[in-house]
Amino acid sequence: MDSFKYCVVVVVWIATNIILNAAPIISSSTEEAEALLRTGWWGKTIPVDNSTSHCEWYGISCNKLGNVIGIDISWYYLGEELEKLNMSSFPNLVNLDLSNCGLNGSIPREIGRLSKLKYLLLPANRLTGTLPLSLANLTQIVELDISGNSISGSIPSTIVSSFPNLVSLNLSRCGFNGGIPYEIGRLSKLNYLQLSYNELTGMLPLSMANLTQLLELDISHNSISGSISTEIGRMWKLTSLQISYNYLTVTTLPVRSLHLLVFWPTLTLLDLSANRFLGWIPPELGQLSTLSLLDISSNQISGHLTSEVGNLSGLYSLDLSQNLLNGTIPTEIGNLKCVDHLNLSYNKIYGAIPPELGQLSALAVLDISSNQLSSLLTSEVGQLSRLYYLDLSQNLLNRTIPTEIGNLKGLIHLNLSYNKIYGAIPPELGQLSMLRFLDLSQNLLRGIIPVEINNLFTLQYLNLSHNFISGLVITIRPDHIVNFEYLDLSHNHLSGTIPISFSSTNNWQSIDLSYNDLKGEIPQGFQFRSNSFQELRGNKGLCGSVEGFPPCTYSPNRSRNRFVYLGTILLVVIISLAFLILGTVFFCCKKDRKNTKFEERSIKKGNLFSVWNYDGRIVYEDIIKATDNFDIRNCVGTGGHGSVYKAQLPSGEVVALKKLHRLEAEEPAFDRSFKNEVQMLTKIRHRNIIKLYGFCLHNRCMFLIYEYMERGNLFCALRYDDEAVELNWTTRVNIIKGIAHALSYMHYDCNPPIVHRDISSSNILLDSESEAFVSDFGTARWLYPNSSNQTVLAGTFGYIAPELAYTMEVNEKCDVYSFGVVALETLMGRHPGELLQSLASESTQNIMLNDVLDARLPALEHGIIAQDVVLAASLTFSCLRSEPKSRPTMLRVSQEFLACKYSPTRPLRKISLGQLMNQDIYLIK
Ligand SMILES: *[C@@H]1O[C@H](CO)[C@@H](O)[C@H](O)[C@H]1NC(C)=O
Ligand SMILES: *[C@@H]1O[C@H](CO)[C@@H](O)[C@H](O)[C@H]1NC(C)=O
Ligand SMILES: *[C@@H]1O[C@H](CO)[C@@H](O)[C@H](O)[C@H]1NC(C)=O
Ligand SMILES: *[C@@H]1O[C@H](CO)[C@@H](O)[C@H](O)[C@H]1NC(C)=O
Ligand SMILES: *[C@@H]1O[C@H](CO)[C@@H](O)[C@H](O)[C@H]1NC(C)=O
Ligand SMILES: *[C@@H]1O[C@H](CO)[C@@H](O)[C@H](O)[C@H]1NC(C)=O
Ligand SMILES: *[C@@H]1O[C@H](CO)[C@@H](O)[C@H](O)[C@H]1NC(C)=O
Repeated sequence: MDSFKYCVVVVVWIATNIILNAAPIISSSTEEAEALLRTGWWGKTIPVDNSTSHCEWYGISCNKLGNVIGIDISWYYLGEELEKLNMSSFPNLVNLDLSNCGLNGSIPREIGRLSKLKYLLLPANRLTGTLPLSLANLTQIVELDISGNSISGSIPSTIVSSFPNLVSLNLSRCGFNGGIPYEIGRLSKLNYLQLSYNELTGMLPLSMANLTQLLELDISHNSISGSISTEIGRMWKLTSLQISYNYLTVTTLPVRSLHLLVFWPTLTLLDLSANRFLGWIPPELGQLSTLSLLDISSNQISGHLTSEVGNLSGLYSLDLSQNLLNGTIPTEIGNLKCVDHLNLSYNKIYGAIPPELGQLSALAVLDISSNQLSSLLTSEVGQLSRLYYLDLSQNLLNRTIPTEIGNLKGLIHLNLSYNKIYGAIPPELGQLSMLRFLDLSQNLLRGIIPVEINNLFTLQYLNLSHNFISGLVITIRPDHIVNFEYLDLSHNHLSGTIPISFSSTNNWQSIDLSYNDLKGEIPQGFQFRSNSFQELRGNKGLCGSVEGFPPCTYSPNRSRNRFVYLGTILLVVIISLAFLILGTVFFCCKKDRKNTKFEERSIKKGNLFSVWNYDGRIVYEDIIKATDNFDIRNCVGTGGHGSVYKAQLPSGEVVALKKLHRLEAEEPAFDRSFKNEVQMLTKIRHRNIIKLYGFCLHNRCMFLIYEYMERGNLFCALRYDDEAVELNWTTRVNIIKGIAHALSYMHYDCNPPIVHRDISSSNILLDSESEAFVSDFGTARWLYPNSSNQTVLAGTFGYIAPELAYTMEVNEKCDVYSFGVVALETLMGRHPGELLQSLASESTQNIMLNDVLDARLPALEHGIIAQDVVLAASLTFSCLRSEPKSRPTMLRVSQEFLACKYSPTRPLRKISLGQLMNQDIYLIK
């Protein structure tokens, strides 16, 4: 009897399967396959294996019955119309992710048929038109992202009100106009709301106060007006509030405008800039101890900067510029030990600069210009060793320039103009070897220009105008002057003749020597400048063939001088020629003497070869020998820009050698990236950055020589099981720390800062101890404060920060994101892939940390190692935030690793990804 029952069950089961898998479903699933092929995306653009079911195709996922439930081809460039995908053919679709696919056309009305859809992600395409009203049928929707398209019209209220399960709504950067619909208040489960960069008008609907589950709200860059009521305080879970660039104000009286600050106990990012906030900063500000970024710039905040600011000890960026603040800078400012960016410019702050400012050891950018500060900070200024941007212009500073300024070795930008600074220009200024911008104009400086100014080889902008500086203008070495782009020495008492090299004015955008006591003949080059009269007027003794000046009268003396001059040049040329010929002969003879080869140009003690430059011929033969003429057997990898070989040199030393292939060498882009890498790596030194031993840039051979890394790259080390197991948890956390320290060094200790732009697991190398080294600087860039940061996209697919889809602006936050991906990859043992796209979704947030950690390693429970992993994971997720501003800086990450004070409150196996993501790292203390 029992067995009979069993048989019946089996038969029924089989029958069900036949029924389910057979006739109706198969037809529907072939219909789906056909619909996929009809788009031309699969088959043509995306290669497919026709012998497999469409469920196996790239980006497609199916349920057990073979119905398509997910289409995710995000970041796959199609450049086609979205309408080609026939929505009606996929009634079971749950996830549709077409982010950044280059899609155009409008959002088809048929999208309303996808009644089971939970995730609709269409950001960063070129979609046009309006939102179809049929979207209202998607009642299951959890995440909706249409950002970065050209969708116009208003945000339809019927749509917004029909999404009871919506957790994340992103409609930013579309061009929506009209108001924010009142019905938005019904989205009671909403965690993330992004409406920034649209043309929204009207007031904030009162109903928004019902969004009590909101974690992040961004409505910046719109034209929203009216007041913010205290009701907004019901969004008590907010961690990030961005409402900058609107017309918002506060009505409640008295004008304690920002009293609303007190509502958010866990706020870390608050950007209220460029609105119409009035009143003063309330003392309650001091309660926001979790804040890491505070920007209230460009409002009408008045009153004093109160001492409570000292309570915000986790702050790393404070911008109160462009307000009506008066009073003095409180001494408590010295508590802001983490602040790296401080902008108090354009206020009415007076008094002395407090010495406590010197305690802000993390400070990189300090702008207090356009205030009424008197007396310059003195010796304390010398302690700000990370400073690279200092602007104290337009104040009432009335001291001499402190000689300690010479300690600010990393300074790139120094502006002290429009003050009452007197005395001489200190020679210590010549120690600021990174300086590119120096403005001391409109002061009371006297004396001569110190000759040390000639040590500033990187200087491009020099303005000393409107002072009482005297002495010969030729103090600035003529060959140095040629490098300048901007030179203003006007309105001083400089004397002497203008050196001839002033005529090679090719680089110069602006030069001004007017109103001095210069005399003699104007150099030829000035004839070709369009406004040379303006540049030279007010110098009574000048003559020459420039309009507005008298011609020079013939003087036999001068012409004799000219003969002497020409004679000297001729002599120099002859002598150099002789040396050149001798040198070449000498060199050729030496060529075969083996031992001298590397010593030839080595610089430092005993090093086999320090960085030597540009001589292909000497090294070439050795390298050929060491790599058996670049035999494939010695090739240990092929990178983006060339192949990497292992080479044992005659001395026994093993090095890695990256060689550009000849064909590639003819490609300017590769050539550029190679030279870039050389430039970068010869300037930086860090224990977690690969060391460059030498290089050769020559048509015949283009290669770089690095220290050899026994364990290859991180990507491979994680890929192969036996190697991956050797990378135990301690080692992996160390790898993550090493990368963090290296990036922090590049972003904060290099002047100007360097962004790598291509951090990926293949660019992290491991030595025999499995210590991590950042490599491949082919696309790295310096960030200069005054140059454009726009650039072409660089990086490796799967590691690129999402905002680079919208903006081509390079900044260090892109590296932070890529670091996050590599760190997560290190913890998971494989690239996080889809997990990255779905971080905001509920289902991902419910995943337990233990379930994503590399299963090839023993599970973690308690103890120091588990704590380290949780810390690394929580820092990792904070680096992966989609909003660049809310990612921590690498300095911060590196410091958190060094501080290591985190102790988790619960065992590792009970921690979910959602908890890690929503727990702010600034809380970890
Ligand atoms: C907020 O929600 C409550 C209860 O759901 C409702 O009674 C109230 O009208 C809502 N307020 C607004 C302004 O929508
Ligand atoms: C600032 O911090 C001090 C010491 O931690 C505390 O006593 C004070 O209440 C804080 N002020 C505010 C306004 O929270
Ligand atoms: C500072 O500003 C406040 C508010 O605008 C004003 O009442 C006060 O008089 C100002 N103080 C000084 C010294 O200007
Ligand atoms: C400081 O703020 C002012 C006004 O908002 C701005 O013009 C200036 O560029 C800022 N300085 C820095 C260094 O960002
Ligand atoms: C500098 O200015 C302050 C305030 O205006 C004044 O008290 C002080 O005497 C001045 N110092 C010098 C040396 O002029
Ligand atoms: C992890 O690996 C390193 C080096 O391979 C080793 O020194 C260390 O003892 C290992 N740690 C544990 C906990 O096994
Ligand atoms: C370029 O980026 C650096 C660092 O992020 C920033 O300080 C600088 O102001 C930027 N320059 C421009 C022109 O935006």
